[in-house]
Amino acid sequence: MQCVYLNGKLLPPDQALISPFDRGFIFGDGVYEVIPVYGGRLFRLKQHLQRLENSLNAISLKNPMRAEAWEAVFIRLIKENAGGDLSIYLQITRGVAARDHAFPTDTIPTVFVYAQKLKYPDQSQLASGVAAITLPDTRWMRCDIKAICLLPNAMMRQRAAEEGAAEAILIRDHFITEGAASNVFIVSRGRLITPPKGQFILPGVTRDLVLELASASNVACIEQAINETEFFSADEIWMTSSTKEILPITRVDGKAVGAGKPGPLHARMYALYQEYKQAFRAGRAE
Ligand code: PDD
Repeated sequence: MQCVYLNGKLLPPDQALISPFDRGFIFGDGVYEVIPVYGGRLFRLKQHLQRLENSLNAISLKNPMRAEAWEAVFIRLIKENAGGDLSIYLQITRGVAARDHAFPTDTIPTVFVYAQKLKYPDQSQLASGVAAITLPDTRWMRCDIKAICLLPNAMMRQRAAEEGAAEAILIRDHFITEGAASNVFIVSRGRLITPPKGQFILPGVTRDLVLELASASNVACIEQAINETEFFSADEIWMTSSTKEILPITRVDGKAVGAGKPGPLHARMYALYQEYKQAFRAGRAE
C-alpha cells in the first residue's frame, strides 16, 4: 500500500496515527463505506455517498466533506495506487474526546481513507459455489446504518470460517435478514426474492444494482420477507456485496442447495453484472 488519507493529509500508513481517545477506538462511534474501483473509475459513487450521508444522519454526525471533496480524495488514492481495480475503504468517527458515552459537541471528526487491490472471489468459488451456515441474527435494530462497530458480524464470520463456510446467513424471528457482510437473494419456484429494506438489513449497493439489472432484463425479482422454510427449500441462494459481487451459495448448514451447484438464474445475473461492469469500464454506464 502506498499512502493513506488521514484528516486532510496523504501519509505512509505507518505515519497515519490516531489518538487512542478517538471515539472510533473507544466506542466504535463511526461509520464506513467500501467502494469498488474498476479500471480507475469509482463504481456507483453517488449511491455509496448517499448511503454514507444516511449513515451519518442516523448517528447525528455532520458530513465533514462535500461530494466533490470526497471524490478528489478517492482520485488521489486511485492515482497513488496506479489505478486498476481497487476497493476504497473510508471511515469517519466522531473524533477525539474525553470518554463519555453521550456525544461531545465540539469534536472534529476523524476521516480515514485507503485503497487496496480488489480481491475477487476465486474462479473455483464461482464455479462450484460456496458454503454458508445459518446463525441467529443477534445484532441490534439499526442494521441499516453502516456502522464500524462490527463485533457481532465479525463473530459470525468467524463461526462460519471455523466451520469451513464463506458466510453466515442470519435469521431473525424465523426470517432471513442478510449475511454477516452481504445481502441475500434466493430463487424459489422460479422467482428471485430478496428481503425488503428496513432496520434489519444494510441497503446494499450491489443488491440495488442486481434489482436494477434484473428489472431491465425482465427477470422477475421481488423484495419480500423470506421465511426459514422458503429459504431452506430454495433452488438457488446467492450473497451479494461490493467485493463478492454475486456469489452462489451451494451448501447451507452442510446440506446442498437445490442441485448443489450454481443455478441457471445465477449464471444469467452474473453475466448481466459482468456486462454492466464492462460497460462501466468503457464509460458507457454509470
Ligand atoms: N460489506 N450487508 C452487510 C452487513 C455488509 O457488511 C455488506 C457489505 C453488505 C453489502 O453491501 P454492498 O453491496 O453495498 O457492498 C450487506 C462490505 C463490503 C464490508 O464490510 O467490507
